[in-house]
Amino acid sequence: MTGATPATKFQPRIFSGIQPSGGLTLGNYLGALKRFVEKQDEGVETVYCLVDMHAITIWQEPRKLRHATREMAAGFIAAGIDPEKSILFNQSQVSAHAELAWIFNCVARVGWMNRMTQFKDKAGKDKEAASLGLYAYPALMAADILAYHATHVPVGEDQRQHLELTRDIAIKFNHDYETDFFPVTEPLIEGAAARVMSLRDGTRKMSKSDPSDQSRINLTDDADAIAQKIRKARTDPEPLPETLDGLADRAEARNLVNIYAALANVAPEQVLAEFAGQGFGVFKPKLADLAVSSLSPISARMQDLMQDVTEIDRLLGRGADRAEAIATPIMERCYEIVGMVRSRR
Ligand code: AMP
Ligand code: TRP
Repeated sequence: MTGATPATKFQPRIFSGIQPSGGLTLGNYLGALKRFVEKQDEGVETVYCLVDMHAITIWQEPRKLRHATREMAAGFIAAGIDPEKSILFNQSQVSAHAELAWIFNCVARVGWMNRMTQFKDKAGKDKEAASLGLYAYPALMAADILAYHATHVPVGEDQRQHLELTRDIAIKFNHDYETDFFPVTEPLIEGAAARVMSLRDGTRKMSKSDPSDQSRINLTDDADAIAQKIRKARTDPEPLPETLDGLADRAEARNLVNIYAALANVAPEQVLAEFAGQGFGVFKPKLADLAVSSLSPISARMQDLMQDVTEIDRLLGRGADRAEAIATPIMERCYEIVGMVRSRR
């Protein structure tokens, strides 16, 4: 059957991306980066991309974008991504992303794009003023993934809808061109921290673009800042319950328990087993200690790596070469399937 080519027909390959539109947050770390490192160490081929072309769908100061891209690369390496084991690079250095995105713009339907909730959130009230790139963003994301025939994509919960669209694009391409060329990628959305919430509002996700710095922990925050943000995090006066059911209507409390669990590599139930009956006066200092001891070595190493930007650029260039070596033959075959004349080689 053409269309729904199961990912199992393809060699397993993991791909994921993060936008260098600001610094890394605890949400990025627990929802994405920490898991990228775990996947890398499971021995599957891993491709990680700093998606600078996605970042400019919203205005970025060029100097800041350049800095954020390098700092994010440093953050990846500091968190345990080994640029020899994984392929680590920035998107704009490999032209396959933009090229395949164009083909996917012609596969995806306007009606599909109109359903994307992230566009609605990011475009805000004045949709007419949003960039065309912001609207087409999910087609570029599908291109990121499918240019490598990636089979699995670790992301946080907020990306679920975009991954559904990636699957729809692969299925429609395969169907329209009567092929089984693209895999139907599986999302990997796992763990207590797939959705880390704001420290100020348990109904909003922790985000690098939230205007309040108190709402998030940044990977660059020092120990005092981390401890202070956790101390001031919004909670309720109740002690921690014995079971997860007891957190059902307590979004802020649940968020802190989930963060603790993800940092300590244990299940949230285990955190409750340890802290049930205790109030936040006890829990918050413990969480702050855990966060500081987990994050400070990463932020120190990141600062260290940022002393040598030339080396970071070299690593990104080398990663882009390796990425391109995978994507180029896939693109060539794709152009051929679509019916483009390719006569230059
Ligand atoms: P972004 O910062 O939007 O480019 O997101 C990069 C990755 O981090 C994606 O896999 C997101 O799903 C993940 N992520 C971002 N914010 C959070 C959060 N608050 N909780 C969990 N994962 C997140
Ligand atoms: N859209 C993702 C986010 O904002 C980032 C991203 C771009 C991505 N391309 C990707 C994630 C490909 C996974 C795979 O978080």
